[in-house]
Amino acid sequence: MCGIIGYVGSENAVPIILEGLRKLEYRGYDSAGIAVRGVSGFEVVKQKGRLAALEKRLEGQRIQGQMGIGHTRWATHGEPSDVNSHPHLGSGSKIAIVHNGIIENYRQLKERLERKGVVFVSQTDSEVIAQLTEYYYNGNLLDTVIRVSSVLEGSYALAIMCLEEPEVLIATKKDNPLIIGAAADAHFIASDVPALLSHTNKVYYLDDKEIAVIKKDSVQFYNQDKEPVTKSLETITWSVDSAEKGGYPHFMLKEIMEQPTVLRDTVRSALTRGTNNAVINSLDINSFNKIVLTGCGSAYNAGMVAKYVFERLCRISVEVELASEFRYKDPIIDSKSLVILVSQSGETADTIAAMREAKAKDAVTLGIVNVMGSTIAKEADYTIYTYAGPEIAVATTKAFSAQLVLLYILAVRFAVKSGKLSEDEGQNLLREIEALPAKAAEILADIDPIQKYASQCVGCKSIFFIGRNIDYAIALEGSLKLKEISYIHSEAYAGGELKHGTISLIEENTLVVAISCSERLYSKIYSNVEQVISRGAKVFLVSNTCKACPDDKLTLLDLPQVNELLSPSLSVIVLQLFSYYVAANKGLDIDKPRNLAKSVTVE
Ligand code: G6P
Repeated sequence: MCGIIGYVGSENAVPIILEGLRKLEYRGYDSAGIAVRGVSGFEVVKQKGRLAALEKRLEGQRIQGQMGIGHTRWATHGEPSDVNSHPHLGSGSKIAIVHNGIIENYRQLKERLERKGVVFVSQTDSEVIAQLTEYYYNGNLLDTVIRVSSVLEGSYALAIMCLEEPEVLIATKKDNPLIIGAAADAHFIASDVPALLSHTNKVYYLDDKEIAVIKKDSVQFYNQDKEPVTKSLETITWSVDSAEKGGYPHFMLKEIMEQPTVLRDTVRSALTRGTNNAVINSLDINSFNKIVLTGCGSAYNAGMVAKYVFERLCRISVEVELASEFRYKDPIIDSKSLVILVSQSGETADTIAAMREAKAKDAVTLGIVNVMGSTIAKEADYTIYTYAGPEIAVATTKAFSAQLVLLYILAVRFAVKSGKLSEDEGQNLLREIEALPAKAAEILADIDPIQKYASQCVGCKSIFFIGRNIDYAIALEGSLKLKEISYIHSEAYAGGELKHGTISLIEENTLVVAISCSERLYSKIYSNVEQVISRGAKVFLVSNTCKACPDDKLTLLDLPQVNELLSPSLSVIVLQLFSYYVAANKGLDIDKPRNLAKSVTVE
């Protein structure tokens, strides 16, 4: 949800900022802009459209400067346009800012400034920050930023330059992520790690309301009272290559293919000595009478899968809540509730709000997060990490799979601790979890049938996904993936519910993707398959329990044998590939689907 980058060093800032924006484009891509401190003032270029449009516009322009800021936008206030793009300047062009977040009181602040004669040029909430900073500027940018941030309401991550302080870049944040990268002769500001990886793996994580005063060879941190704050420099373990496509046409395909490794690393982190293992062991299921899983998008779907696993293994009541709903429903939770926050980025605004609501009600909070140093990782009572590495494609694949395996392991450990599973039963299940990476690799070694089938589905107007119990939970994720990247309407339905409505939508050649990995429910889902086929549907049956023969209406995709409770880890790979190839055959921009952003840091 908007990516920001800043650079101060001894090289030309323009290519460095553009390279950083390329890595942040997943956060928003309806316009982009750059401002550098040139010899005679700020040089600003802003362009509606993808980053490529900005790059084109910059071609042949001789913009130079050793300090600069850049932004890639996901519009909230004001349509995507050149003028609404960031950076924004104060009216006297003394201040330049880039902003990620929403300023909730921008109207009042804007009106106040307008009464004083300040003229605004954009419809954005962000411009008010530039205008206010310029209006308050008193010869000291740090003092001014402290004053400005004390009147801003809402959320922000900001990079700010001032014409009169040519060597200083200021960063501050509240409720949106921001990191400071430190290299030998340069410093950086970025919304996320991949933007910095080619320059440094040493970063400071800025906390809310802290201010960083950044120069080429130094960085100092302050709180709102202008007291110095000491922060430690953290080392990122992600490699530079992990944020590159590595020969694949899209990040999404690369990330799907990485899943065996990601599963292996994540399972290992939870089963062998280390922090994930220690955290999982330290949680005592016996002190809870309820588990709530919450998240948004795919993270919510991971919770839906986990509900079946926890309830079956631990015999504890589990609720799954959309984080955006949970925060407003006055949830019935207390100190005996474990609230699990599932989030790849650890920065999703609704999930953060859900966490804060849970903490306010004394519940114990556990984050399942991919990004170290993110808000949920820092604020949750406990955090365990998915070892997915950087995930760039907007539609999540590998991080979702890593979330699933951590949730399985948590459920098994809880079940053993609460006496619902014997040690031996627990060990057997853990061994099956350890075998998942090899089974995932088996599926990925033979993707041709999925690719071929998907290529015939590009003309579909609507695709239904059905399953029962845990297969229904993973059908939700299959349907979401398809919608996100192929723009084909899709719904996931519990197989038994079809006859109560959706079946009226089945017409000649409507595609239904059925998932069946539960031996005990095979005959049930197969009845649903027959019901839709007899009404003209074509069915793509993803299964390891299938006893039927394929024909012109029924296509089968065999999955490796696996415990029913762990089967979503395998069926989801087929569903991801199916969506990917449908979208690829439609020639769509798979890594950056329209209107979406990977990290939704606004409400
Ligand atoms: C966005 C993305 C989804 C993602 C969701 C939650 O909507 O497009 O792919 O599942 O946010 O993100 P999180 O970072 O909290 O997992």
